[in-house]
Amino acid sequence: MEVAVNHLQPGPDGRAAVYTKHLKGIETEHPVGATVLVVGGGGRCHAIVDALSRSPQVGKIYCAPGNAGIAAQAECVPLKDTQVEQLRDFALEKGVDLTVVGPEVALAAGITDAFTAAGLRIFGPTKAAAVIESSKDFAKQLMAKYNVPTAAYRTFEDYNEALEYVSKGPFPVVLKYDGLAAGKGVVIPETLEEADHTLRDMLLDDKFGKGKVVVEEFLTGPEFSFMCFVDGERVWPMALSQDHKRAYEGDKGPNTGGMGAYSPLPFITEEDREYAMEHIMKPVASAMVKEDRPFKGVLYGGLMKTPSGIKVIEFNCRFGDPETEVVLPLLKTDIYDIFSAVADGSAMPEIKWEQKSSMGFVMASKGYPGSYEKGFPIEGLEDALSDPEVRIYHMGTAVKDGKTVTSGGRVLMVIGSGDTLLQARDRALTAVDKIRCDNLFWRRDIGWRVL
Ligand code: AMP
Ligand code: GLY
Repeated sequence: MEVAVNHLQPGPDGRAAVYTKHLKGIETEHPVGATVLVVGGGGRCHAIVDALSRSPQVGKIYCAPGNAGIAAQAECVPLKDTQVEQLRDFALEKGVDLTVVGPEVALAAGITDAFTAAGLRIFGPTKAAAVIESSKDFAKQLMAKYNVPTAAYRTFEDYNEALEYVSKGPFPVVLKYDGLAAGKGVVIPETLEEADHTLRDMLLDDKFGKGKVVVEEFLTGPEFSFMCFVDGERVWPMALSQDHKRAYEGDKGPNTGGMGAYSPLPFITEEDREYAMEHIMKPVASAMVKEDRPFKGVLYGGLMKTPSGIKVIEFNCRFGDPETEVVLPLLKTDIYDIFSAVADGSAMPEIKWEQKSSMGFVMASKGYPGSYEKGFPIEGLEDALSDPEVRIYHMGTAVKDGKTVTSGGRVLMVIGSGDTLLQARDRALTAVDKIRCDNLFWRRDIGWRVL
């Protein structure tokens, strides 16, 4: 296959003026700026597409598969995030200059390896580095080896051995399935009976797949998300954030993909942040290099401020969802420069953040995270967006008969920004109240512990 060659000629304002591509022998003139492909289709990818569209260097954005909201800012491509070869061929055919990957499944499927082998620039870790998320056992072993603070643990493959260990207590105990389980692989039983039931599901009945179980000490304290841009040993922090995983107000009900988030975090001091950077994020990036799995992309630390210090709950190998939706609107630096510096291993500009607060509310289909119906029309979106301090990122929407309709469990995220978290919240909730749809519910108490 012939590889695309891009000729960028700087214009008078420093941006690319003429963009000629030689592709399979055909010469075409493209509009000003770089062509970017974003892989994924939820609220997180909408936030990435929105940040890219603020870059003067970006001319064309494709998003695969995207959604109805993303379609206003990018050309949606009907390819799934795991169709790695088709995505690679698409990027070659369209002369894509940079690809940014949202979901972990694509990274665990080796999208970065496939793109790199084809000479394509991509932002996201290789399959070998993505194991920091796809294998809880790998992450725990890495932390033990490099003295990174985390909960005590043991890994089991055998049901009887696991049960014997767990039966000695204490309870609650944390049971984690060792593999990607879409956020549903963690169970925290209060009794031996419940623990036995979960161990049977995970180790005897393969309800989650064929894998191991990590048994962890139960920690307490507020959780927070520390996302960093990482290129090998180089680590740059993003604004801190917290998400709310439970479905109902007061942090009650079943776990979800996240019902809201906010940034910054009043309960994390500058000292805490410094500690997390120096004792967790930087040592882990450097450990990955030593293990011959250099990490490039976003390293997400799911951390907890426990009575005995900050400890790691989990690592993810990608932007958090819904944290990205509240963090990226605060980014002042051109995100295309950041992605390029990581992808190319080149100089990073100083990364600047708005000294503002951001809070987002997820509007979900009634029934979520259980079963729910789709196809309900959504109205009032334009009115809700009339406040310039409000953003709406689509999580699960589609277009039917020219109307935006619900098409997923989580449907929209409405984000407000302001000088304080209270201001951000009030702006977001005012916008939420302008949206009309018969089948949505949402929590109004995001950030309740700090407001
Ligand atoms: P994870 O997928 O590893 O982030 O786990 C999902 C959720 O389970 C976390 O956000 C925590 O609320 C909880 N959790 C995981 N590990 C622990 C632990 N060791 N102690 C207490 N809670 C935990
Ligand atoms: N918000 C948690 C995650 O992205 O995994």
